[in-house]
Amino acid sequence: MKKRHLLVPILFAVIYACGGQGNQENTDNNQTQSNTEAEVTQEHKGKELIAKSDCSACHADKSKLVGPSYTDIANRYDNTAENQKYLADKIVKGGSGVWGDVPMTPHPQLSESDLKEIVNYIFTLKN
Ligand code: HEC
Repeated sequence: MKKRHLLVPILFAVIYACGGQGNQENTDNNQTQSNTEAEVTQEHKGKELIAKSDCSACHADKSKLVGPSYTDIANRYDNTAENQKYLADKIVKGGSGVWGDVPMTPHPQLSESDLKEIVNYIFTLKN
């Protein structure tokens, strides 16, 4: 009986030591990343995806850069399924002519669910 009592804490110590070490590297590697990610995930997933893509080179939430601001985009369109599809399609294919002659580059790497989140986020900026 006495032996058993000793064995259990030792087992836990061993498991903890191994498990702890395995995770250690991960935690260290991700430290800076998970800090910024934690901040971003509190915001909209679409905003996170925008931050990971090249959108911010040409767009900002409120001010016009190379392209229109997301707020201006959101205000231009009604938040309907049809417009969501149109905007998602435009992000994938790029193009010009709606806001001016400057073209937007295509983004074929974005998945349908990413696009949904992004368009959804843009519509949260509608006033
Ligand atoms: C090279 C600069 C550039 C990049 C990078 C870029 N855009 Fe654009 N975007 C533009 C321009 C310019 C327009 C206006 C196009 C037009 O007039 O038809 C635009 C238009 C848009 C529109 C409105 C489309 C419409 O027809 O009203 C959305 C939505 C949009 N961009 C989202 C994004 C997202 C999301 C990303 C990143 C995945 C992105 N853009 C990356 C330049 C850019």
